[in-house]
Amino acid sequence: MSDDLLRRLKVHGSVPAHIAIIMDGNGRWARGRALPRPLGHHAGMRAVREVIQGCLDSGVGVLTLFAFSQENWQRPAVEVDALMGLLEEYIAREVDNLRARSVSVRVLGDLERLAPGARKAVDWIVAQTAGGQELALNLCISYSARAEIVGAARQLAEEAVAGRIVPAEIDEEAIARRLYTAPWPDPDLLIRTSGEMRISNFLLWQLAYAELYVTPVLWPDFTRRHLFEAILEFQRRDRRFGRVPV
Ligand code: IPE
Ligand code: IPE
Ligand code: MG
Repeated sequence: MSDDLLRRLKVHGSVPAHIAIIMDGNGRWARGRALPRPLGHHAGMRAVREVIQGCLDSGVGVLTLFAFSQENWQRPAVEVDALMGLLEEYIAREVDNLRARSVSVRVLGDLERLAPGARKAVDWIVAQTAGGQELALNLCISYSARAEIVGAARQLAEEAVAGRIVPAEIDEEAIARRLYTAPWPDPDLLIRTSGEMRISNFLLWQLAYAELYVTPVLWPDFTRRHLFEAILEFQRRDRRFGRVPV
């Protein structure tokens, strides 16, 4: 059934070059089953596999997943520990698979805050998958868009003080080049699961002209088919970028 959708979206038009996803609703998925929240996060790993496969199948080049925000550090320690443990588990389980499918993984965020084990796992998957050509997979962990923009501003100020750049040279390109996402085009499509109508400090700069797609589906229930439905909806949108439609 999802292959039928895949055929449709391939004939329909262009597939987004870059999809970003706020993977939300794990806690509610668990609560709905009277399970502890970490089991919802665990179930969410299957959906991560689904969307990676869906991107490979449909030819999306960049997939950026919001896995853990800087604000999420304020959750109870048991939940934070479970999420960090899951990150290590995910990496250990998936690294070979990702490399075999030519997926290159990058991890975006304040990695200094990760515990040594999680940090090691992150460095390991990045090194092991470097050079993958089929899909660039960005995992946003300990990520805050405002902190990312602050980092770019600070970098520019340091360069100006050192005389390597003059303020008049600071333009949108100069800022974009100093964000974590510098190597990739801005997302064309932002998907948020679980029905929440907010950005939650995700890619504030890069989403300037992304198409927004919010689905009530909770993240652990999200499948390749849901991804294809979102892409089909994207193909029906009229992207004007502030101009008059031609
Ligand atoms: C998303 O699910 C995963 C993370 C934010 C780490 P939540 O844990 O936010 O699930 P809800 O929103 O409470 O249902
Ligand atoms: C956003 O979800 C962060 C991630 C999906 C990793 P949250 O559940 O943390 O966001 P809010 O609290 O609903 O805004
Ligand atoms: Mg949430």
